[in-house]
Amino acid sequence: MTRKGIILAGGLGSRLHPTTLATSKQLLPIYDKPLIYYPLSVLMLTQIREVLIISTPDDLPRFQALLGDGRQLNMSFTYATQKEPRGIAESFLIGADFIGRDPVTLILGDNLFYGDSLAQRLATAASKPQGAAIFAYWVPEPGSFGVVEFDRNGRPQAIVEKPEHPNSNYAVTGLYFYDNDVIDIARSLRPSARGELEITSINQIYLERGLLTVEVLRRGVAWLDTGTADAMLDAANFVAAIERRQGLKIACIEEVAWRLNWIDDEGLQRLAEPLKNTSYGRYLIDLLRRSSDDPFSPTVALRGRYRTPSPTAE
Ligand code: G1P
Repeated sequence: MTRKGIILAGGLGSRLHPTTLATSKQLLPIYDKPLIYYPLSVLMLTQIREVLIISTPDDLPRFQALLGDGRQLNMSFTYATQKEPRGIAESFLIGADFIGRDPVTLILGDNLFYGDSLAQRLATAASKPQGAAIFAYWVPEPGSFGVVEFDRNGRPQAIVEKPEHPNSNYAVTGLYFYDNDVIDIARSLRPSARGELEITSINQIYLERGLLTVEVLRRGVAWLDTGTADAMLDAANFVAAIERRQGLKIACIEEVAWRLNWIDDEGLQRLAEPLKNTSYGRYLIDLLRRSSDDPFSPTVALRGRYRTPSPTAE
């Protein structure tokens, strides 16, 4: 069994009009790279190499132009269209053949996760042989999200989509781990009042079956979404602040593939070459030139990639 990954990058982005009238939100930059790199890097850190990207018929060719077939990262990208915004859960109908008999992780194309413990949390969620795992995150105004209601012992009681009077502050993030039953569950859904197949209905069904794990992401993890102009600017400022301070990039997919040993030095060099006049490209080239690297990088725990300090280092 190989866990598959799906990025849903559809939608009209109507809250960002006019910016998104002629392009997909997920192709817009968050600081120094397209938004879709962030969810893609989360799937990569989950060790997922086969990814289906779902977008609108108009936008899909642009994603293909950006990401290709994935071979450059030693991954595999396939593409499918969602003709109308018929809901997040439709991903599993569109992606049924792609998923086959495997478990699947879905991430929304506009969700950005960052935090030290993330790789470990992803590995734990991915290792569950059965059922579903979702993540909950404290937000001040949960009413615009799916909301998890907990009992006094912290056990999830219900998942409610955009409740008028939220019962808790825990929003459901756009990152979902499922076993293969999700396809049949998605097939059994009927459209909600807003005409969508709701991801919340799927989570509620797993909950009723006693097969839903809700992991709380604590405040040391950042979960940002990018639904409005302000949220996009906040996300860009957040990424810029951390990247400038550390001199390390967030969600640099070429770096992640290299650190996971999916591509070698030559592969990284090849990807850097056409970008060498940009700071992004120079960053990739610098990775290869570094004489020493951080032995505590999260990818070390995953695959052991780091460079030992060289005795000739300055
Ligand atoms: C969707 C889901 C919601 C979830 C959110 C996370 O909301 O329906 O349950 O909390 O993504 O980003 P939407 O983006 O459709 O408003």
